[in-house]
Amino acid sequence: MTKTPPSIIALDGPAASGKSTVGRKLADALGYLFFDTGVMYRAVTWIALDEKINVNDEVAVTRIVQTTDIDIRPPSQNDGRACDLLVGERDITWDVRSSAVDANVSAVSAYVGVRAALTEQQRRIGLRGKVVMVGRDIGTVVLPEADLKIYMDASAEERARRRYKETVARGAEADYDEILKKMIERDRIDSTRAVAPLRPADDALILDTDSLTEEQVFSRILEFCR
Ligand code: CDP
Repeated sequence: MTKTPPSIIALDGPAASGKSTVGRKLADALGYLFFDTGVMYRAVTWIALDEKINVNDEVAVTRIVQTTDIDIRPPSQNDGRACDLLVGERDITWDVRSSAVDANVSAVSAYVGVRAALTEQQRRIGLRGKVVMVGRDIGTVVLPEADLKIYMDASAEERARRRYKETVARGAEADYDEILKKMIERDRIDSTRAVAPLRPADDALILDTDSLTEEQVFSRILEFCR
């Protein structure tokens, strides 16, 4: 590692490309804040479903980000979580990983008003530096001035396999074919939306992780930091 590793690190890529696992490890190694922006979009989606708001109603969904207190705090439990995700006092850390949230989050995150509000919060936190921020548009929109931008990718089949394993390990029900189908659909919506679509920044380093182990991915990323 150089004396001063990059301060703002942006990690983008499609669903289950390994961003969160490696991002968390990297942040731990550097003593940086790990910020998974996907949980914010997931929280808004969870609230919409919980309050029986039609996710196709852009105005009603956008109102959620203006009226609800979504908080991210250090982990209070040692159950594999990177942080606590709270709505008011309710802990929704694992609720936001449900298949219902998976199925609706891309529609919610395509809304301009939702993105504007969340992007502003993410940017404010990211600009403090010493941060590994993970998402879809960190290098392109949230923090275009990031010191290091990495775009992680892998085939849909490999990513679905990883998500399947993760879900089963958590003790939740999983069906590989269903995961694959929904993941492809989510990536399609994420990369074709008008605002902040999923794509590598022009100055991002691309890392294809298909044939790499978690350890190999991590050491490549450490090399990028040097
Ligand atoms: O963990 P996984 O890769 O499956 O997804 P996530 O990172 O939790 O993100 C869930 C969804 O939030 C994505 O499919 C995007 O629709 C949205 N998202 C986004 O639009 N912009 C971000 N910076 C992060 C997530």
